[in-house]
Amino acid sequence: MQKETRHFLNLPDIDPDVLKAILKKAHALKKQKFNPPQLFKGLSLAMVFDKRSTRTRISFEVAMKQLGGHTIVMNMSEIQLGGAESVESTANVLSRYVDAIMIRMSDQAPMEALARHAQIPVINGMTDESHPCQIMADLLTIEEKLGDIEGKKIAWFGDSNNVSNTFIQAAPIFGFELAMSGPEDLFAGNPHYVADPKEAAKNADVLVTDTWVSMGQEGKTLDKFWPYQINADLMACAKDHAIFMHCLPMHEWEEVSEEVAKSPASVIYDEAENRLHAQKAILAWCLENAGVSVSQKSFNFGNE
Ligand code: CP
Ligand code: NVA
Repeated sequence: MQKETRHFLNLPDIDPDVLKAILKKAHALKKQKFNPPQLFKGLSLAMVFDKRSTRTRISFEVAMKQLGGHTIVMNMSEIQLGGAESVESTANVLSRYVDAIMIRMSDQAPMEALARHAQIPVINGMTDESHPCQIMADLLTIEEKLGDIEGKKIAWFGDSNNVSNTFIQAAPIFGFELAMSGPEDLFAGNPHYVADPKEAAKNADVLVTDTWVSMGQEGKTLDKFWPYQINADLMACAKDHAIFMHCLPMHEWEEVSEEVAKSPASVIYDEAENRLHAQKAILAWCLENAGVSVSQKSFNFGNE
């Protein structure tokens, strides 16, 4: 019987217990980082990008390879998708070659259409709306530094964007408190909004921000963002043990001061490393049901 195809597109689409299990698996795979289990032997991941990437591209590539698999990386401008070929045709063709697809594209709808037509897992490598792989790595980092995520207070500052949207989705799933502070017009209707950044930072375990200028928004005016920069004054409002996080890349020194980014409270490079471990766990879950019909893993010559 054909098993379900496991996509990793939006956190709320996935069973909360599954997400918690993926996070647990990420901790376990990190512990095995010098002796990685060969879970993906013979499996291939296609990666498609329509935007720049350092962490997502390299961490997915290394995750697959360390666990015995292969990757093919393509820029959207190099393939037929977006030119003459439809999403449906692309999904069907890639399903015959590889075992999973990771895609970074601006719009969420074509990514979801790709998943609907694919017979293999599709992983969201970031859209303008969401960045679920990043948040899994962030939660792994918080748990490593501060213990169980449940009940922690995370305070977000600055822009309202794909990363902040995904924190909002993750909060009820993982049971953490969320306060968000930034220019009021960007947070209209947001139940987590706290106008005063110092109030938002009060008692926080984690202070987190992202660039004020997401990819594709170049030329934006920044005046209204400055009150929400994470700097030493803001860090002083949080708990003594509070950590500073940023998905990177940073726009130095806009959303965060150099002093905070380079302080002992800053865990940004652990967070970047954790993309690797979180993605191994995401891939392991997505690929657990691979091996049906098209996967190299199911070849069993002589026993057909
Ligand atoms: N944080 C993140 O997704 O980084 P990249 O854009 O470099 O992949
Ligand atoms: N909000 C940023 C995240 C980059 C990883 C962007 O979309 O450019």
